[in-house]
Amino acid sequence: MRRVLTWCAVLAALLAATVGTSPRQSGPSLDAQLAEVLEAAGFTGEVEASLEARLGRPLDPNKAELGRLLFFDNILGLHGDNSCAGCHSPAFGFGDSQPMAIGVDNNGVVGPGRAGPRNQRRSPLVANTEFYPALMWTARFVALSGDPFDNSLGFQFPPPENVVATTQTLLQAQGSLPSTELVEMAGFTGITANPGPFGPAHFQFDDGHGEALPAPDATGFHNFPIQDAVDARLNAIEAYRVLFGTAFNGGVPLPPGGITIAMRREAIAEFQMSLPGADAPIDRFARGDHDAMTAKQKRGALLFFGKAGCVACHAVAGPANEMFSDFELHRIGGPQLFPGFGVGLGNVIFDGPGANEDFGVEQTTGDPTLRYMFRTAPLRNLAVAPAFFHNGAFGSIEAAIEHHLDVIDSVADYDPDDNDVPADLSVGPIDPVLAAGIDPLLASPISLTRKERNELTAFVAQALLDERVLDFCDLVPASVPSGLPVALFQGCGED
Ligand code: HEC
Ligand code: HEC
Repeated sequence: MRRVLTWCAVLAALLAATVGTSPRQSGPSLDAQLAEVLEAAGFTGEVEASLEARLGRPLDPNKAELGRLLFFDNILGLHGDNSCAGCHSPAFGFGDSQPMAIGVDNNGVVGPGRAGPRNQRRSPLVANTEFYPALMWTARFVALSGDPFDNSLGFQFPPPENVVATTQTLLQAQGSLPSTELVEMAGFTGITANPGPFGPAHFQFDDGHGEALPAPDATGFHNFPIQDAVDARLNAIEAYRVLFGTAFNGGVPLPPGGITIAMRREAIAEFQMSLPGADAPIDRFARGDHDAMTAKQKRGALLFFGKAGCVACHAVAGPANEMFSDFELHRIGGPQLFPGFGVGLGNVIFDGPGANEDFGVEQTTGDPTLRYMFRTAPLRNLAVAPAFFHNGAFGSIEAAIEHHLDVIDSVADYDPDDNDVPADLSVGPIDPVLAAGIDPLLASPISLTRKERNELTAFVAQALLDERVLDFCDLVPASVPSGLPVALFQGCGED
């Protein structure tokens, strides 16, 4: 009897698996429905293919290759202890390997074993960011035209940059900024305490407090002393003068002083644009390959675009560039996490009376009505992320979605241990967040059955994943032109 039961269970499981995974079982009506829904939503699955047309030129492989080396080279961090890849890890789709970023003063490891003072938020995935009309969790770097490839109205950066830049794309404008972030790359100490391997760095902090701004350059940026110091470091390295010459000077090596900040940000943006990331099952389905998604994912998609209401914020049409975000600001009541401030804790002083909150957009605008608001998170390739929301409060895509379905319930039951939150992060107050009011679209619970929740999760986790992001470890260079050590990337086969 027991044996019979077991066999029944196995058979049932097999059947369920076949129905769940075989696209052929889905039947024409599900396909037809989804095709119609996607068309009505303005989703084409062709955004990745549109890149070079939007850019008005082909990608430049020499610039992208130079950008790759810069992305991995600690030379951009004044104390030689962090690179872009230190926070945007290739083993995690060039996103964070941690729930909350650890920047300078780290242990040289990128991955679950990374240690050092926390910053404030989670590093987003950089693949596809060229399509974002507003960058950062608080959408504070903005293409004023609404189109990140259209610089006619400029790209707005709040203080301390305080410029409307006129680089070719928004992403280009952003590429040089992390080097001036003290907690991310520059470090806190100047000449006396820690000169770094490339000698004394004479700079002042561009904290926007009381220093006169240097004159703007042709793209609108003020060249802060930290940036000049980074440029001087690059110019001192012959291998970089050769590589920048290949990318920007017809193959002729640049003389010392020839490497500029504008070249640096262009190369880094070119590398980021060269990363694949927007050819997922949903894109292939939209282009007519109806076998690209499982029946379960298709049903999840119908919920996402239908009764679960997700597309109202995680938009695909127009300025969303099929990135599953309206790039607008919303208050959706996520739990707060903070590392504390001081030795062995964090190096950012958090907001609020207890210094244990993140005021979100208010930090940039000073407008208290925008407190706790964040940009609708774009949803592509989240399957490779270790944690979710701006601070990594949720440990799975499922938990992140569940939060939306019943915000009050989610925060009442919130347990950091269930969400793999590291022990150095504590939970901040939620009452002031709820008191500020939840976005009307999520203010009352959305009722979905367990089966529907699973389908919705399958759609977000699997159907938006471009599997090529799993190969980003191939891009880790064996060495970088500065000769500085390349970090150890856990998950890239070397842990
Ligand atoms: C200390 C870790 C750290 C380093 C180093 C770092 N970043 Fe980031 N990056 C972040 C965090 C955290 C955010 C989000 C910040 C926020 O929203 O307040 C971010 C945001 C971004 C974004 C915007 C993504 C989006 O979804 O809008 C891009 C693009 C980016 N970084 C590229 C880079 C590049 C290029 C470098 C190197 C020049 C770099 N980052 C260095 C942590 C880091
Ligand atoms: C009112 C607008 C709104 C609606 C409706 C909405 N979301 Fe969100 N979503 C957001 C915002 C804002 C964030 C970022 C929150 C944060 O970081 O604190 C987010 C974050 C997420 C994340 C985490 C992404 C990441 O990178 O951490 C997932 C997953 C997600 N939403 C899925 C959904 C699904 C599925 C639905 C439909 C049930 C939905 N959302 C409905 C606004 C919305």
